[in-house]
Amino acid sequence: MKTRRKTLAVFAGVGLLVVTVVMSCSELDKVIIAPPDTIPGAKYVGMDQCALCHEKLVKRFKTSAHARFAIPGPNDCVPAQGCESCHGPGSLHIEHGAPDKFGGHIINPSKKPEACFRCHVDKQAEFNLPYHHPVREGKMSCTDCHDPHGDDMKKGKGVLIARTNDACAQCHREQTRPRVFQHEALKDGCTVCHNVHGSINQKMLVENDNNLCLKCHAEVVNTAHARIRTVAIAGGSHSGRVNAGPCWSAGCHTAMHGSNIQHYFRY
Ligand code: HEC
Ligand code: HEC
Ligand code: HEC
Ligand code: HEC
Ligand code: HEC
Ligand code: HEC
Ligand code: HEC
Repeated sequence: MKTRRKTLAVFAGVGLLVVTVVMSCSELDKVIIAPPDTIPGAKYVGMDQCALCHEKLVKRFKTSAHARFAIPGPNDCVPAQGCESCHGPGSLHIEHGAPDKFGGHIINPSKKPEACFRCHVDKQAEFNLPYHHPVREGKMSCTDCHDPHGDDMKKGKGVLIARTNDACAQCHREQTRPRVFQHEALKDGCTVCHNVHGSINQKMLVENDNNLCLKCHAEVVNTAHARIRTVAIAGGSHSGRVNAGPCWSAGCHTAMHGSNIQHYFRY
């Protein structure tokens, strides 16, 4: 039976959340669910159809966050979901038979971030911050770090955090190469210190002052004289030093990603 769907179904972690769609878009936390561009005349056919020829992609994609929502299709009962939420309706692509005729009948978002900004409006805002990866400038793309078809969308090999750092290593060899004295903070991922989409701070740092380091290293000791607070690091007082400026640029710990020379990461 054909029913026109007016609901947007989002599988949240625990169950099925049904949101009534008033207009063509709906909002999920920070993500707007916007319908994709369409090729005139094309209709939604559903992911099972894509699986006929793109079997591997579909299999991998099924556990992705992007496989979990549906947008009501404007022209038929099949909602825009799965592959078609980014590629638009696929009927013409499938109808046009021979491989050499596939071109032009399906949207390939390619390296353009607009395809992602449509829904991830908050990300567009982050890439507009003063220090950002040059995605808007066309020098790199979301897909350098995210695999749009992957189950967790992280690029690289191994477990999650290693994979994230791996994705960075393609371009930032200097910060990711092994060293005699590693900064263990890297085990928590580059993103403990860097907002990689964009930041108001230089070098895309999460914080531009010593709080960047103190969140892991500080022991703030309140002495008996309540107004005097000392900062103790590695067992000794650091109070005088932390007033000298940021730990990494005041001449003390300039080798923030690790050092081959010295375990305090001085050089
Ligand atoms: C009858 C087989 C077949 C079906 C079904 C099919 N495709 Fe394709 N598709 C192909 C072939 C062949 C190509 C060209 C070779 C390639 O890039 O893998 C292609 C290419 C593509 C491309 C790249 C186009 C470009 O211009 O770069 C996209 C995107 C795509 N398909 C998406 C889909 C989606 C989404 C579905 C389901 C709605 C789908 N395909 C269903 C066979 C198919
Ligand atoms: C989150 C958005 C998104 C979804 C969902 C999505 N794709 Fe893609 N797809 C892309 C982007 C972006 C590219 C271009 C990748 C690039 O050029 O780096 C792409 C490229 C492709 C290509 C061209 C070959 C390639 O791998 O670059 C095919 C084929 C394809 N997609 C098929 C599919 C199929 C089948 C599904 C569903 C299982 C799907 N896509 C779901 C965003 C998406
Ligand atoms: C049709 C809307 C839509 C489009 C287009 C879209 N996304 Fe998403 N994306 C979502 C939704 C919804 C979620 C899940 C958000 C949530 O669970 O809070 C999501 C989640 C994600 C996540 C987090 C995955 C996770 O496992 O937590 C990443 C990374 C992501 N998208 C990247 C992209 C990239 C890159 C593109 C462009 C190639 C893109 N998205 C295009 C709607 C979209
Ligand atoms: C330089 C690599 C890089 C680029 C480029 C990049 N991302 Fe990300 N993205 C990440 C990393 C790393 C995370 C995980 C952040 C974390 O764990 O704190 C992430 C997380 C996300 C998430 C899920 C968590 C969140 O912050 O909401 C979404 C959605 C997302 N990215 C979308 C995008 C989109 C859209 C683009 C392109 C416009 C993009 N990203 C470009 C590296 C990148
Ligand atoms: C595809 C290549 C590429 C990938 C992958 C990549 N970056 Fe970048 N990164 C760049 C480019 C290009 C710049 C801008 C350099 C410039 O403006 O001189 C940059 C700049 C930076 C900067 C600021 C440097 C400065 O001098 O201001 C930081 C920090 C950074 N990236 C961290 C990361 C992290 C963390 C990851 C992994 C999540 C990552 N990058 C993944 C290409 C990449
Ligand atoms: C403990 C915090 C921390 C972690 C974790 C961290 N960084 Fe950094 N990173 C910094 C600081 C601080 C700077 C600024 C150094 C400066 O200004 O001299 C920086 C600067 C950079 C720069 C710019 C280098 C330059 O010479 O201007 C890049 C690129 C970078 N980091 C990449 C990464 C990558 C990739 C990872 C993960 C493998 C990572 N960072 C993990 C703190 C960190
Ligand atoms: C995510 C948590 C985390 C952050 C953020 C972090 N560190 Fe670390 N750092 C560690 C861990 C874990 C160790 C190894 C254990 C230890 O020595 O405390 C370490 C070790 C060090 C050491 C070597 C100490 C020794 O005795 O060998 C120095 C120096 C250091 N960090 C400086 C910094 C500076 C400067 C910053 C800010 C830019 C910073 N750390 C940010 C977790 C962090």
